[in-house]
Amino acid sequence: MPAEWVIPIPPPLDEFECMAIGTAGFTAALAIHRMEENGQDPAAGEILVTGASGGVGSLAIDMLTGRGHRVVAVSGKPQAVPYLQDLGAVRVLDRREIDYGSKPLETIRWAGAIDNVGGEMLAWLTRTTDFRGNIASIGMAASTKLETTVLPFILRGINLLGINSVHTPRALRLRVWERLASDLRPRDLAKIVTRTVGLADLATAFDAYLDATVLGRTVVRIA
Ligand SMILES: NC(=O)c1ccc[n+]([C@@H]2O[C@H](COP(=O)([O-])OP(=O)(O)OC[C@H]3O[C@@H](n4cnc5c(N)ncnc54)[C@H](OP(=O)(O)O)[C@@H]3O)[C@@H](O)[C@H]2O)c1
Repeated sequence: MPAEWVIPIPPPLDEFECMAIGTAGFTAALAIHRMEENGQDPAAGEILVTGASGGVGSLAIDMLTGRGHRVVAVSGKPQAVPYLQDLGAVRVLDRREIDYGSKPLETIRWAGAIDNVGGEMLAWLTRTTDFRGNIASIGMAASTKLETTVLPFILRGINLLGINSVHTPRALRLRVWERLASDLRPRDLAKIVTRTVGLADLATAFDAYLDATVLGRTVVRIA
């Protein structure tokens, strides 16, 4: 591992909390940090989080809510609705019921978004995000494609922020972990990380992921 990736655990976090936050939490925090640097204000309106029941989505909902944003979640899991509301989502949309429309600009619905799925969802977000809103593009759970036009960028001044948790300059990495230990510290980590498995249990632990029944994150105990 490159030396610049190694950083001290910021107090009051401990080893378990850092692993529970993990790359998913770091990536969600990096997205929120970049959106805020770019002027995202809780007073501007609702933030949509897609892929909501996954690790990044769950932690993003927790942190955004803690920062005073009203968060709407998109999930494909009806059974996840109480969990997502418990984390702070004011509403949960079923991704299969979204009418994506086809116009270059659709009715404005979101002040900003954190997108974990890409494809049609991300294209729809560019068409429905408010003036100067920020969309953080994190994942590609649905697709790597993005088909949109320049109109949302030119006529609404929206911002598409690419989030890369690996190639993060050290100073920014330290700043984001500092925030993870303070104003972005997840409030409901125990609800998000409900499973700890040993290395020996790893193979069977993936079964629930393949069945799409897992919510949140699993910590792996290596010693
Ligand atoms: N940019 C970076 O640095 C970075 C860092 C970490 C992760 N990632 C990427 O970010 C994404 C999320 O990571 P994660 O750790 O949260 O993954 P995860 O725990 O597997 O969650 C992904 C979520 O996406 C939704 N989903 C799955 N298949 C889908 C489909 N076909 N269409 C629409 N939604 C679908 C599901 O949520 P619902 O059932 O609730 O909809 C699922 O729980 C992944 O693509 C991952 O590779 C990127």
